[in-house]
Amino acid sequence: MSYLLRSRVTSTRLVTPIIKRTCFSTTARQFQQQQQQQQKVDQESKVTHFGFRDVPEEQKESLVRQVFANVAGNYDVMNDAMSLGIHRIWKDQFIRSMAPGPGTKLLDVAGGTDKNLGDIALRFLDYCRNIHQDSTASVTMVDINPHMLEEGKKRFSKTPYANTNQASFFVQNAENLEEIPDESMDVYTIAFGIRNCTHVDRVVKEAYRVLKPGGRFMCLEFSQVDNPVISKFYDIYSFDVIPVLGQVIAQDRDSYQYLVESIRKFPPQEKFAQMIRDAGFSTVGKGYEDLTFGVAAVHSGYKI
Ligand SMILES: C[S@@+](CC[C@H](N)C(=O)[O-])C[C@H]1O[C@@H](n2cnc3c(N)ncnc32)[C@H](O)[C@@H]1O
Repeated sequence: MSYLLRSRVTSTRLVTPIIKRTCFSTTARQFQQQQQQQQKVDQESKVTHFGFRDVPEEQKESLVRQVFANVAGNYDVMNDAMSLGIHRIWKDQFIRSMAPGPGTKLLDVAGGTDKNLGDIALRFLDYCRNIHQDSTASVTMVDINPHMLEEGKKRFSKTPYANTNQASFFVQNAENLEEIPDESMDVYTIAFGIRNCTHVDRVVKEAYRVLKPGGRFMCLEFSQVDNPVISKFYDIYSFDVIPVLGQVIAQDRDSYQYLVESIRKFPPQEKFAQMIRDAGFSTVGKGYEDLTFGVAAVHSGYKI
């Protein structure tokens, strides 16, 4: 309840009221000035959500960064707690659905936190090695947080891919992948990362830019449960159990409260599928597959 109250107070403070327009005494010039003033107000008061709170857009990135800094060290345990360990099965299914061929160039965005860094990248390289005996596939991992990438390099240094040119790492914001050239990748993945980004539409547009024609966008993310009975249990688990686990496991209730709130604020499956199409991708069928009653979903689109 307290977060709801906090949310309301914050939004009242941050969202500037619309300027009233009186028509009968307003000249065209005054109206134009008011329009310009209104536009300025709208631009200045751009807000986004951070969990259930409204925050100025420019603050979200650092708030998210702080969350992942707070949960570092315990994130992998919490990922298990949040998904009841099922995230591993989802990730296996994600790679099977990708079915990469030999020599595939993958860009894995928002690569991860602690031991999760490289979950997608390693599964991908293992798949290419085991299924195709291929050592020409490569993965570029990016994350906004340099600390996460350092952890990823450590993890990779203990794998068969150490000292090969199959894995590279860049600190990058998913909304602006300036180190990644246009049309350079075969597949783009983002797993449990996109809901933390401020402008989801920009993330998807960047994915479109960096993919080669024929390339594939794939997103694995917590999503919305449709079944009312399961949804009720899921809500209780999310809002009453996970924050308590966060407190017990990591002595950090707030970060885990954010994680569950951010899941509810992420667009539902149909809406996100439409955003993917709006960015220029073609989707097959409805464009997504629900996993575990919609607790998570895989969205996919092709750059045709
Ligand atoms: C939940 S973790 C990802 C976990 C991992 N991909 C996995 O499969 O388990 C979210 C990651 O997104 C990263 N992140 C958040 N905002 C980002 C952004 N705008 N651009 C790139 N990475 C971002 C965080 O630093 C964090 O490492």
